[in-house]
Amino acid sequence: MEEENNSTVSEFIFGGLATDLEIKLFFFAIFLAVYGATVLGNLLIVGIVAYEPLLHTPMYFLLGNLSFLDFCYSSITAPKMLLGFLLRTNTITYEGCISQIFFFHFIGGIKIFLLIIMAYDRYVAIFHPLRYMTIMNGTLCIGLLCASWVGGFVHSIVQVGIIIQLPFCGPNMLDNFYCDVPQVVKLSCTNTFVVELLMVSNSGLVTLMCFIVLLISYSILLAKLRAGSATEWSKAISTCVSHITVVTLIFGPCIYIYLRPFRTFSMDKAVSVLYTVITPVLNPFIYTLRNNDFKMALAKLMRKKPKLTP
Ligand SMILES: *[C@@H]1O[C@H](CO)[C@@H](O)[C@H](O)[C@H]1NC(C)=O
Repeated sequence: MEEENNSTVSEFIFGGLATDLEIKLFFFAIFLAVYGATVLGNLLIVGIVAYEPLLHTPMYFLLGNLSFLDFCYSSITAPKMLLGFLLRTNTITYEGCISQIFFFHFIGGIKIFLLIIMAYDRYVAIFHPLRYMTIMNGTLCIGLLCASWVGGFVHSIVQVGIIIQLPFCGPNMLDNFYCDVPQVVKLSCTNTFVVELLMVSNSGLVTLMCFIVLLISYSILLAKLRAGSATEWSKAISTCVSHITVVTLIFGPCIYIYLRPFRTFSMDKAVSVLYTVITPVLNPFIYTLRNNDFKMALAKLMRKKPKLTP
């Protein structure tokens, strides 16, 4: 508001999802429930994977890691968004915005690399079933996971390194509920053409390439599975189908947002809600509802609890 012309922006204002008080309260209730389910569902999976010896295989360890990341991912944006529904104006400091961008891309990057590791894990399980446990040993799993964290970090630090150099000298209204790179870049008072080009190549093309690699991998896996006997492989097929569902849910919106940051569409906010809030809550359900091992582990966990009535 004051001395806008010369000073740099010290905070951003979120436009949020609604302005009407009743709609805001309605959204608050809905998204609180969704976020609660995200936290409970994902932490339940992490707990089950940790405590159930039946699930101590690379595939479930990777699923546990994905659930943990989903929990972190939605916790970067959801609490601030929920608070926004209760406040008249929802603001975030410049530093807060930059850290949100950093963690958002850090965790998002790890998730995408983790999906590739999960595809590789399924590849080994299907093409080398007998050597699966020796190939996907603890050292390799930990090594690949570390690589995905390093990859996510590099991706994110490059993104943030570009953004902190941009001058912000006035407009600070973000038409969203979190600091999304394309919109933050748009507020900068400089020609952002080169920056947007860098972003498209850092986020957009990398995501698109990973997505294509994953689609090809799973097509090869499904083709191999279809050639096998139907009953024997039905479990493997259902596992692959849930992986493909998750891959599509994560990549679709990501590619939609980052492959064309030069323009904004009216669908953008809906897509943002989809991949920051909805996708993380869906993953646990996609895996647990489709997976018999998980269902058994959960049933076992329930039975262990002391019963109140005999
Ligand atoms: C992540 O994977 C590693 C290595 O397989 C495993 O030791 C760890 O328990 C997993 N973490 C979670 C939260 O499942």
